[in-house]
Amino acid sequence: MEMKYPHFIDLNDYPVEWWNRLIKLGAEIYAHPQRYVQACAGKIMATLFYEPSTRTQMSFQSAMIRLGGSIIGFDNPMSSSVSKGENLKDTTKVVSSYSDILIIRHPIAGAAKAAAISADCPVVNAGDGGHLHPTQTLTDLMTLRMEKGRLDNLTIGLCGDLLYGRTVHSLCKALACYPNNRFVLISTPELQIPDYIIKMLEEKGCSYRIESSLEAAISELDVLYMTRIQRERFPSEAEYLAQKDIYRLTPEKMSLAKPDLAVLHPLPRVDEIAIEVDDDARALYFKQAQYGMYIRMALILTMLEMKEYPQLLRGKEDSGLCCVNSKCVATHEHYLPHLFLEESGHMVCEFCEERALEQK
Ligand code: NCD
Repeated sequence: MEMKYPHFIDLNDYPVEWWNRLIKLGAEIYAHPQRYVQACAGKIMATLFYEPSTRTQMSFQSAMIRLGGSIIGFDNPMSSSVSKGENLKDTTKVVSSYSDILIIRHPIAGAAKAAAISADCPVVNAGDGGHLHPTQTLTDLMTLRMEKGRLDNLTIGLCGDLLYGRTVHSLCKALACYPNNRFVLISTPELQIPDYIIKMLEEKGCSYRIESSLEAAISELDVLYMTRIQRERFPSEAEYLAQKDIYRLTPEKMSLAKPDLAVLHPLPRVDEIAIEVDDDARALYFKQAQYGMYIRMALILTMLEMKEYPQLLRGKEDSGLCCVNSKCVATHEHYLPHLFLEESGHMVCEFCEERALEQK
């Protein structure tokens, strides 16, 4: 399968220097937005949002409008032909023929990559189920670069739903690529980070600690990344209810933290950060959401101009294997090939990165 367009599915498909260039461009646009008002004149961006979104969708849309381009798309698949049973391939094929860049959010892991296979324009992953959310990570990296001045030598606490929180997975994969970052993974045993992320931290030689108490960890942190408990991804409501109120950042806990702690949250917040914390100068989550628009402007511009780019699919078919992850696109869209990559002696699914494989 030949890849005719650049795609942005996983930040780690690109080298760290490329991320740094993007962050620099984001900062340049932030400082001089008027220089870019015509940069995408005549271009169309489509947003296909199969899952609810406020920030990701609207920041992409306002990014394109601020670059002088136009937008089409849906935010409720039930108002499109998806409600008539159209598969991902056909929707993507058609919408990509109307547009210059396609932004997709989907509840199933690997859906953005699957869409990219049949798209006739660049595809950007705006969140694929509980798997990845690379444009949120760009937002997080830009926030840290602008507000802390560095992306290395940081002690980063990630707190809450580390199991289903895709923003956490993408952020760990990114920050592990900068030197001397330490990770404190704060969650209940039920919501611990997936094994493949732990393996990645170990392979990269990153120091990490699994911790259950936010209070015990907060004083050592340079960055605290709070997350929402991802209600919609739990197998049952009872399991969600048992987890939902365990972590809450309050002014009392903030009083234990460093004076230059950066508190980030991808938002939306439910109850995990008390409203009173918003007035603390260390609470950066609203600023973070605003940086998200500027880094997405940088991403759109870069994707539309890119001449050289990585290969989309690197896996191989293996007649003895299939992916058995019920939340993977390969098990939902039956026309897709089952592709596998070898990672430290294990075969992992190209789409969802899970090791859950069995003989056909
Ligand atoms: C996050 C998401 O959709 O994964 N939100 C976002 O994109 N800013 C986090 C969340 O929904 O909790």
